[in-house]
Amino acid sequence: MYILEAKGIKKSFGTLNVIKGVDLSVSKGDVIAIIGPSGSGKSTFLRSLINLEKVDDGTITIEGQPVVENGVYAKTPEAKEAYKKLGMVFQNFNLFPHKSVMENIIMAPVSLQKMTRDEAIIEGRRLLAEIGLSDKENAYPYELSGGQQQRVAIARSLALKPEILLFDEPTSALDPELTGEVLRVIRKLAEEKMTLLIVTHEMSFARDVADRIIFMDGGVIAYQGKPEEAFSCNCNPRLTAFLKNFNEH
Ligand SMILES: Nc1ncnc2c1ncn2[C@@H]1O[C@H](COP(=O)(O)OP(=O)(O)O)[C@@H](O)[C@H]1O
Ligand SMILES: [Mg+2]
Repeated sequence: MYILEAKGIKKSFGTLNVIKGVDLSVSKGDVIAIIGPSGSGKSTFLRSLINLEKVDDGTITIEGQPVVENGVYAKTPEAKEAYKKLGMVFQNFNLFPHKSVMENIIMAPVSLQKMTRDEAIIEGRRLLAEIGLSDKENAYPYELSGGQQQRVAIARSLALKPEILLFDEPTSALDPELTGEVLRVIRKLAEEKMTLLIVTHEMSFARDVADRIIFMDGGVIAYQGKPEEAFSCNCNPRLTAFLKNFNEH
């Protein structure tokens, strides 16, 4: 059984068709990198999977539980529960500015009554150790670098114990010297066999870490395959042009 399956996903904004029938099957432990030009629908697709955008058509199933069927959203408690298996990390961190690092991390698990405050703090400290920020527990986001903020944002998502973590260009708001520390955290999650869907422009990272590359172009998956093929097979002209353009910048 797939941990996440999307079939025939379509999404328009007004007259603009952004997602034009996308299928994706994700197995437990898959690490999938989604690449493609700006405006090709990568963010909209990720946001649709996690219910931040409503699709117009298609079916989404999370661990066997349909949450959308042919464009119709299931309203059952089971469907609502299923979405909790997904977490997302955004480009701009989206930390709560007036809350400390620890408060950012424990807020959702405590308010959703997943844990007591004391349990959440213990878990928060474990996560801070994992991301190498044990000394920043009481710091506020403005006291942290972008790379540190993004690592906290990852810890905050992990605190809800998602089965699948979605990343939307997690390093593209960072200065180049700060991307490495964030990519290392994501790489560690991949090594721990967490299921990851990562929209990224970091091609060498995608090549190293992903099991599968998905190339989105014009609202469709124009190519998918193993990294060693995707980056060298020249089997899709649009992908080749995209990679060539990328290497020249
Ligand atoms: N909320 C929105 N309203 C209208 N148009 C949108 C909205 N979000 C995205 N779009 C448009 O949809 C297209 C795909 O955007 P997006 O999914 O952000 O692409 P990508 O992440 O690949 O750069 C773009 O043309 C973008 O302008
Ligand atoms: Mg985007």
